[in-house]
Amino acid sequence: MRMYDIIHKKRDGEALTQAEIDFVIKGFTDGSIPDYQMAALSMAIFLRGMSPEETAHLTLAMAASGDQIDLSQVQGVKVDKHSTGGVGDTTTLVLLPLVASVGVPVAKMSGRGLGHTGGTIDKLESIPGFSIERTKEQFIEQVNTKGAALMGQSGSIAPADKKLYALRDVTATVDCIPLISSSIMSKKIAAGADAIVLDVKTGEGAFMKTLDGSFALAEAMVNIGENVGRHTIGVISDMDQPLGFAIGNALEVQEAIDTLKGHGPADLTELCLVLGSYMVVAAGGAATAEEAREKLTESLSSGRALETFKTFLRAQGGDASLVDEPTRLPQAAKKIPVTLPRTGFVSRIHAEEVGTSAMLLGAGRETKESEIDLAVGIVLHKKVGDRVEAGEAIATLYVNDERKVAEVTERLQAAYELSETEPPQHRLIFGVVT
Ligand code: URA
Ligand code: CA
Repeated sequence: MRMYDIIHKKRDGEALTQAEIDFVIKGFTDGSIPDYQMAALSMAIFLRGMSPEETAHLTLAMAASGDQIDLSQVQGVKVDKHSTGGVGDTTTLVLLPLVASVGVPVAKMSGRGLGHTGGTIDKLESIPGFSIERTKEQFIEQVNTKGAALMGQSGSIAPADKKLYALRDVTATVDCIPLISSSIMSKKIAAGADAIVLDVKTGEGAFMKTLDGSFALAEAMVNIGENVGRHTIGVISDMDQPLGFAIGNALEVQEAIDTLKGHGPADLTELCLVLGSYMVVAAGGAATAEEAREKLTESLSSGRALETFKTFLRAQGGDASLVDEPTRLPQAAKKIPVTLPRTGFVSRIHAEEVGTSAMLLGAGRETKESEIDLAVGIVLHKKVGDRVEAGEAIATLYVNDERKVAEVTERLQAAYELSETEPPQHRLIFGVVT
């Protein structure tokens, strides 16, 4: 088999066989296929597309390129959740204990990564003592006895995807649904998920900006799931404004605790109930999404979800008493309100700008080497549909280093659009693909 012939075939719009795709991924991973040939093939795929069968083969080949986590020792159906990424997305912190509290095992692998805030692990490290250092045996034992565990993502999950993503990034071939969907699904499959619930964000603050694009991505991933025997459900949710109020690490832990206590932001609570319901159904913990939702709602109101969070924190070495005394989370030196000189109804909040503002304050990593400040970030006081009076605070900055305050204040002010009349009701969930 020759890479030249495979590029030629895809260039002319033909479908590649499983053997050809395996050859490409193996050769690219071990270095026998050079970057320039892989770049040419990526562009041919970008222009010519891939059938659902090809996309499934590519996904499995990339999943098999490195470690594949065997979770067969965890009892029950292992369901994982993935978000395509948004601003202030606190859902994993809530879903992990919430879903575990109704008896569905949660074996979660998470990363740190680049972004507006840290990843789930960074956020939880706001809690003194919390650690993800554990062996695979301890991880599985913890899921079986406590219902939930979190582990850092091993460096060798889907290395082919890591290498390909870096190449796509510099060859203008990221924005391609077969390549995005196989990239995301390969990592979930290698991490051992039996079933996958995808939160596909749509809107300005999301990877997919249009509703059509978001549905197409969800459909592609659900197709892959069905093709490789992993039940997959895609929920399309809004990212035209940040989710919840908090964007920051300790601030989002606080927001998750509020939500688990039953008084979190309405949008975050609703999205967690929707995603959680599908996770419970996928794991066989309820027959319908309605039945699952009832269980989750009961767990929130009875305090069982909060208790499960404490149990989980203790199991990972964290100080669970902090849940009842959140002032012991890392605190920023200064809280600075941001006001607007105008009056009106909030019609839009440019999510991307809010995220960048939080990162500038130190909440996220610009480069792999950046240090995160767990205490800093932004808490919004006004969301789309709310009325604002001139001079009223729309948000509070949590700051340790004041050098960026002027710039961040300006960005946030510009991120808010006001209208004279009340805007139409903002949608949170646009649809579900199964
Ligand atoms: N996220 C991924 O993991 N892969 C992509 O290709 C795009 C977004
Ligand atoms: Ca949030």
